[in-house]
Amino acid sequence: MSTAKLSLDGKEYELPVITGTEGEVAVDVRKLRAQSGAITFDPGYGNTGSCKSNITFIDGEKGILRYRGYPIEDLAGKVPFARVAYLLIHGDLPSEQEARTWRRELTQNSLVHEGMLKFFDSFPVTAHPMNILASMVSSMSSFYPHDAELEDDEHIRANILRLLGQVKSIAAFSYKKSIGQRYMYPLSDHSYAANFLRMMFATPTEFYAVPKVLEDALDMLLVLHADHEQNCSTSTVRMVGSSGANLYASMSAGVNALWGPLHGGANQAVLEMLEEIRKDGGDYKKFVAMAKDKNNPFKLFGFGHRVYKNFDPRATLLRKASDAVLNELGVEDPLLDIAKQLEEVALNDEYFLERKLYPNVDFYSGIIYRAMGIPTDMFTVMFTIGRMPGWIAHWLEMRKDPGGRIHRPRQIYVGPNLRKYEK
Ligand code: CMC
Repeated sequence: MSTAKLSLDGKEYELPVITGTEGEVAVDVRKLRAQSGAITFDPGYGNTGSCKSNITFIDGEKGILRYRGYPIEDLAGKVPFARVAYLLIHGDLPSEQEARTWRRELTQNSLVHEGMLKFFDSFPVTAHPMNILASMVSSMSSFYPHDAELEDDEHIRANILRLLGQVKSIAAFSYKKSIGQRYMYPLSDHSYAANFLRMMFATPTEFYAVPKVLEDALDMLLVLHADHEQNCSTSTVRMVGSSGANLYASMSAGVNALWGPLHGGANQAVLEMLEEIRKDGGDYKKFVAMAKDKNNPFKLFGFGHRVYKNFDPRATLLRKASDAVLNELGVEDPLLDIAKQLEEVALNDEYFLERKLYPNVDFYSGIIYRAMGIPTDMFTVMFTIGRMPGWIAHWLEMRKDPGGRIHRPRQIYVGPNLRKYEK
């Protein structure tokens, strides 16, 4: 095993070096404090490996994203979301028989507990669907308390199926509630994506055939969002789960972390920004200037990424898909034109080039969701439905890690020294 040498206060320390299967290198500092009294300092964890993982590989410099070894380009639009979810959670793609059983189980588990349905009535009409979703997922610990607390594989599997099955139902029901329509239930012969669309857009009085173009587009979007290694929400799921919190509690924390505009909430923020540019007369250059102004907190939503410093492969796929979907649906969206102009300016601007700020997944997803008829405040919910299998896979991996410990970073205290309390 190779080692790294650290020299501190005249003393030398040898630190083990870990190498991943794709050649990534890490200096193992686990014993550093015990040996030297020093800790590592890395606010925002931009240079910290929090775990070993065999789920997703990203090379941000080369724009590579792989789930369990499969390139995202080979999965998105080619392998249905339910199978990709199976891959992430189980480690391998399902056989035909396993895929059939998995799909049936997911549909059977998509029925929301009737007691939970009463919750929808209690939220104010102004409630954000992400908040409703986080609360509903959290409440599943109370509605399935026996399964939630038991740790054996059978009970964990039951919880996983409920989560994957119900997350799309809860999402669709919160939309139905917001427009005062009756909840629609899933059908066992529909795919995961088709069932979600049916629950969103079907009504009891009309026959609703899920448009293939919408089903395919949604399936692809869900696959593109299914996992992204140790991002903010996934790390939150692992952090919360590391204390022994149950699956539902950990997932609910993930939903809340994803909601923020710097993370999953960016897809809603992008659309709102494009709308603002349109209302302002379409002067996108003014907004680019605002984003570059250090005295202005405004950011160009949908640009930049902690890991991707070349291009986001999900954005590349979505850029193509957005043209195709809008064409097929016959939708002409002025916001797409603004998005393209903005992209063009940013891709050629010194500020963005220097900082390697490229369009990310959230830049184009909103345009497609909008064309599909999904309301803007549901965009981050769509991201959540896609990300659920990734969170589950990471929670399981964390739980099964024999060397796993509660996550508990340290700090450098910079507050007042000891003070005397005067009465
Ligand atoms: N617009 C303008 N300037 C930016 C932007 C942006 N969107 N993103 C980063 N910068 C600047 C930043 O001000 C900094 O400048 P300087 O070096 O002069 O101080 C430099 O670029 C480096 O940025 P950073 O803040 O150190 O980058 P980070 O890795 O901490 O943050 C990010 C990554 C994604 C939070 C950030 O790029 C951002 O806020 N983007 C907009 C929100 C967004 O689209 N988020 C979705 C991310 S992708 C999907 C997901 O993860 O959910």
